[in-house]
Amino acid sequence: MFKANGDYLKLRGSYLFSTVARKQEEYRKAHPDKELIRLSIGDVTQPLAPAIIEALHKAVDEMADPETFKGYAPDLGYSFLREAAAENDYKARGCDISPDEIFISDGAKGDCGNIQEIFSKDSKIAVCDPVYPVYVDTNVMAGRTGTFDEVNGLWSDVIYMPCTKENDFMPELPKEVPDVIYLCFPNNPTGGVISKERLQEWVDYANKNGSVIIYDAAYEAYISNPAVPHSIYECEGARTCAIEIHSFSKNAGFTGVRLGYTVVPKDLKSGDVLLHSLWARRHGTKYNGAPYIIQRAGEAVYSEEGKKQLKEQVAYYMKNAACILKGVREAGFEAFGGVDAPYIWMKTPDNMTSWDFFDLLLDKANVVGTPGSGFGPSGEHYFRLTAFGSYENTVRAIERIKAM
Ligand code: MLT
Repeated sequence: MFKANGDYLKLRGSYLFSTVARKQEEYRKAHPDKELIRLSIGDVTQPLAPAIIEALHKAVDEMADPETFKGYAPDLGYSFLREAAAENDYKARGCDISPDEIFISDGAKGDCGNIQEIFSKDSKIAVCDPVYPVYVDTNVMAGRTGTFDEVNGLWSDVIYMPCTKENDFMPELPKEVPDVIYLCFPNNPTGGVISKERLQEWVDYANKNGSVIIYDAAYEAYISNPAVPHSIYECEGARTCAIEIHSFSKNAGFTGVRLGYTVVPKDLKSGDVLLHSLWARRHGTKYNGAPYIIQRAGEAVYSEEGKKQLKEQVAYYMKNAACILKGVREAGFEAFGGVDAPYIWMKTPDNMTSWDFFDLLLDKANVVGTPGSGFGPSGEHYFRLTAFGSYENTVRAIERIKAM
């Protein structure tokens, strides 16, 4: 008789954004006359930039011609895209990352979830609390997190690094040394950012203690403060302790197109084992590469036209962020983030639980957000709004929140 994987049975409820979507649908069915504004999941709303559309059309035409048709993509990605990423995301910022250390994939979420496979099962992970749920849930699936405590909402074998307004949403270096540390800056969900000096402390800590940092840089395009690093490789010594994950979803609107990449430097070793070799082996065995058409679209992100158009797109979303931050503060809420990040992290009123506030906002303002407690126990009494809506809807959502 077959048995289901018991580690999956330990997962708590359904994935956060599936729960939010289900509750939204239930409300919509019960109130068909209400028009909901969705500022919940960080899904983009603006169309792909013209330079990307042009590259897509061109690549589609190539697939129609026997001379230029492409079958399987190279395991690790086409060199045109890896070279463009190495040049623009690293060399231009003074970081020493070569194209063959970049692994192209169909998105950062998959990489965030899969990367844990190259670490031993008894590795101890450390996560911020609140945190993007994928880091924890995929380690639960891998049987690495121990038992769940219903009272405090924590896994017994995970090191939590609380991030609240009391510590400026900045994790402290853990006293118990983790094997694998997940960091995401600009942060999802708090919208907080880290200075280069603080990030250097993490790199030094990881190198000193033999930990590895999984650095999720999905929101780096939203950084405007020059003191905030775009990549962990801007820090001295990061090549021996850090893996970095990039997304094309938030900087270029690829949430439905799917493209990302992960950097595994060849200096990152466990004894004499290169993590680069393990990730390459995994990629080769389990993955047949992101589609050629999509990788050409990714290349256009780095063209002069593409860069210009995407700068405007990011500015569009950051105008929403400014509108939300100002608006919710005027409405009397305490709010954070939204300056170098597309997320606004607000305190719920009167210590209301995050899910109670979700229901209140849905019912009174017909606005859908994301409850902070869904990101971890330290997210309780907080609530996340995203800047990825249209400007018109963002303005209307704020008007409605003010009128509540
Ligand atoms: C979010 O809303 O936190 C993100 O959109 C989720 C994701 O990128 O997978």
